[in-house]
Amino acid sequence: MKPLKIGIVGLGWVAGAHINTFRNIEGVAVTAIASRRDLNPSDLKEQFGIDCQVYKDYSRMLEETDIDIVDIYTPHPFHFEQAMAAVHAGRHLILEKPIALEYEQTRLLKDAITRAGIRTCVCFECRFSRHFQLIRSVIDQELLGEIHFGEIDYYHGIGPWYGQYEWNIRKEMGGSSLLTAGCHAMDAALFFLDGEIEEVNSYHVYSKAADFTPYEYPTTSVTMMKFVGEERVAKVTSCIDCYQPYYFHIHLVGSEGSLLDNRFYSKKLKGLNKDAWSVLETSLIDSGSVEDHPYLPQFQAFIDSIRQGRSMILTDYDTAFETHRVVFAADTSAREGRPVRLREVE
Ligand SMILES: NC(=O)c1ccc[n+]([C@@H]2O[C@H](COP(=O)([O-])OP(=O)(O)OC[C@H]3O[C@@H](n4cnc5c(N)ncnc54)[C@H](O)[C@@H]3O)[C@@H](O)[C@H]2O)c1
Repeated sequence: MKPLKIGIVGLGWVAGAHINTFRNIEGVAVTAIASRRDLNPSDLKEQFGIDCQVYKDYSRMLEETDIDIVDIYTPHPFHFEQAMAAVHAGRHLILEKPIALEYEQTRLLKDAITRAGIRTCVCFECRFSRHFQLIRSVIDQELLGEIHFGEIDYYHGIGPWYGQYEWNIRKEMGGSSLLTAGCHAMDAALFFLDGEIEEVNSYHVYSKAADFTPYEYPTTSVTMMKFVGEERVAKVTSCIDCYQPYYFHIHLVGSEGSLLDNRFYSKKLKGLNKDAWSVLETSLIDSGSVEDHPYLPQFQAFIDSIRQGRSMILTDYDTAFETHRVVFAADTSAREGRPVRLREVE
């Protein structure tokens, strides 16, 4: 089996987690890295155990190498152009979230990807976590019945102690609380509550804490969402200005039961006590560190999709695009102080 060659763009914190993940997948090799910094291949060999060519100029990496996959994890404003260049070069694409900072860019990229017929994977890796897979399986086995309410809240203090803080505080780099981090919660809401969003109403606010006042955009947002058909509502919080442990709060309420993080009650199971939660033992999504994120099952699924010539499951571009559409609608709603219908974001 010919190895699939990977070229990465932006050698920062996340890059290390991705490279270490690829080392645990059979039949792939990181063979090129584009970075603004001067890199020494022997240092990379020592640090990551990889033999690769290094480039300062990303377009030269695309022209001069025979990489199959481009993996992008630069700061947000660079994602669009770098992803577009990879698509035009006919390379498969792994892209960190957010896919871009402007809605129009996400749409242009979607069209280009469809035309090029390449495979794509967006890093909404939580969908591959044991925690999310367990919840999805509780839903699929109809233990909650028809879900009519979901509350997904993302608490992750992105202060000076967190790597990307330095550039993330700037509006043109971070984008918004949802774009930079809370999009994971929005993506979870769409993963757990099937159906299309009709309208969103969002509010946002700044923190008064000195660690968070450097942010050029509001650091907490709360979005209420109504689904098409009037049978389902949800709330999504994106809070990056908190002093507390990372917390991914998931509460789903349905006609047969409820789920709270990893606890649940279902009328469908005889003998459970409605007044006490039953615990589902699993590994929770409870860390903002990329070392703890489930990139391995996600990237393995992506490599399998390329080898087997079929679409990526769960985190392909089109699925992530729908999450971003709702994020852009929510940010417009908060900025303009009015409800926004999803059909306005076309
Ligand atoms: N999926 C997740 O859970 C998760 C977690 C953390 C970060 N991220 C995302 O990963 C991406 C990178 O975040 P990070 O924490 O690694 O940031 P970082 O600041 O550690 O790394 C960014 C790297 O990009 C380089 N860079 C900047 N401009 C560049 C350019 N034009 N071309 C090439 N390289 C350039 C920087 O020198 C740096 O090495 C962001 O999109 C971020 O939102 C995702």
